[in-house]
Amino acid sequence: MMNTEDHIHWFRHTGPYIKAHRGRTFVVYLGNGVLESPNLTTLVHDLALLHSLGVRLVLVHATREAIDSALPSDHPVVFKNGIRVTDDLTLAAASDVAARQRVQLERLLSMGLPNTPLKDAHIRVMAGNVLTARPIGIRGGVDYLHSGTVRKIDAEGVQAILNNDAIALISPLGYSPAGELFSVSASDAAEAVAVAIGADKLIFLDRHAGLEDQDGNLIRQCTSASAQNLSVLDAEQQRLLDAACRACSRGVTRSHLLNFHHEGALLEELFTHDGSGTLIAQDPYEQARKAGIDDIASIMELIRPLEESGALVRRSRERLEEEIHHFSILERDGRVIACAALYPFTETGAGEIACVATHPDYRGEGRAQQLLNELIDEASRLSLTEVFVLTTQSTHWFLEQGFEPATPDLLPVEKQQLYNWQRNAAVLKRAV
Ligand SMILES: CC(C)(COP(=O)(O)OP(=O)(O)OC[C@H]1O[C@@H](n2cnc3c(N)ncnc32)[C@H](O)[C@@H]1OP(=O)(O)O)[C@@H](O)C(=O)NCCC(=O)NCCS
Repeated sequence: MMNTEDHIHWFRHTGPYIKAHRGRTFVVYLGNGVLESPNLTTLVHDLALLHSLGVRLVLVHATREAIDSALPSDHPVVFKNGIRVTDDLTLAAASDVAARQRVQLERLLSMGLPNTPLKDAHIRVMAGNVLTARPIGIRGGVDYLHSGTVRKIDAEGVQAILNNDAIALISPLGYSPAGELFSVSASDAAEAVAVAIGADKLIFLDRHAGLEDQDGNLIRQCTSASAQNLSVLDAEQQRLLDAACRACSRGVTRSHLLNFHHEGALLEELFTHDGSGTLIAQDPYEQARKAGIDDIASIMELIRPLEESGALVRRSRERLEEEIHHFSILERDGRVIACAALYPFTETGAGEIACVATHPDYRGEGRAQQLLNELIDEASRLSLTEVFVLTTQSTHWFLEQGFEPATPDLLPVEKQQLYNWQRNAAVLKRAV
């Protein structure tokens, strides 16, 4: 059980993520097995929580395995090239399963009992004919009958649902202008919806934890280019990975592969630094990491103009070399675009935050805040209880990050001796 202090600490660290996700659009694919999982109720509560935090949510539910189970045992299940051949009976089963699952999700999202996290939530869920499909037709001599592919997504219709403060629920069934019904792949539907509405994230909840390297370690972040060269665990993961990469190359900012068996996987992925699965991004993503000696030239390029303007204290190259292990950086395309340092004073349990800087081209998007949070995590790992900062031009920025004014006599003695009265910097502190 978390004590109050931990709780407050946790809440402060969650704040930036809440801010970052508010108003964003996430398409969440609920993979085969999710609706039968013992974690379903908590997952639905987590989705409801995201909705209440202002995330615009689209849910797409997979039906393949449920269709297999719904068919009579003597009915042949035929897949060719990974695609189901949907005969009349299978289409009827697909339609029944989709309806049943939709009702199940709507029921769970309607829960509002006092002892549930959804107390008085009144979440609106809306579904509809947003997916137009066309038949796959006959390929290589195989007639896929009622199996279809996505022809068009009614993006305006989906946006209207989201603008209505509702969760959009999409089943893998498509309608044709001729009034026919087609069964489509749920991962294709999720990808098509995410692309059509310009989603910020496409999140696949599946049985696997994410992508793994050769030693079986989880890969937390990669680009879609590098993801395509990775080996996958099975055909299902390959299908999801392909959809994730295609979505990224077609404008979706990030795709995620998560394991629904892992309780809280979705929240862990969205509200913690390391996440719980694999994040796939189109662009070489920005990486936050500890600085090394090779970063000195790039850090100097970033901070020199700020030293000249008086915003930062001047550091010689020699001093930077000695202190480089205190620095954390954000790197983009091999260039340092933001930096910050933590100098621990272990005897007093305090740490100095210094040299916080973001390149002018990259300001205002939470980068300095991200680095500051990393340093506060580091301070916590070092068992420091508070951090302080001396600043001449960014007092208000630090106040907005939870710092409060302090006086130089509160600084550790060694720092007091170095305090430059002429610079007359403001002293601010914050609990870790
Ligand atoms: C302060 C600084 C690090 C912020 O970097 P950043 O990556 O843009 O920071 P974030 O994106 O996390 O925060 C941006 C927010 O802070 C605000 N902000 C930026 N500098 C500020 C300042 N000096 N005072 C008050 N608010 C400030 C921005 O207006 C923005 O707010 P908004 O989103 O409401 O518009 C950057 O402006 C900088 O490099 N400044 C010069 C160096 C410096 O003074 N460092 C501090 C001394 S250690």
